[in-house]
Amino acid sequence: MAASQFFRLAERDRPVVRFAIDARPCEALAGDTLLTALMTNGRRLRLSEFGDGPRAGFCLMGACQDCWVALEDGTKLRACTSFVADGMRIITQSAVENDR
Ligand code: FES
Repeated sequence: MAASQFFRLAERDRPVVRFAIDARPCEALAGDTLLTALMTNGRRLRLSEFGDGPRAGFCLMGACQDCWVALEDGTKLRACTSFVADGMRIITQSAVENDR
């Protein structure tokens, strides 16, 4: 099984952004969306709050609402329309589940 769902084929010369997924140090490139950052560092965005398996986004353009992720501080972000930033700490449990 591959370590990531997405593989970067081009634009590899942008500055590196350091962030964390579930406390695991990861790297992305400046200008990556959170979705790209997560999927180049793993196989899913998050676990579904409805118990139907891992989620990886669907439309990739801000329409389907399938890609919400949470930061450790409780901020909720739509991964396909938000940019990764240095120091972000993403948790991949359900963003909805964290409201309970
Ligand atoms: S993947 Fe559809 S809204 Fe983000």
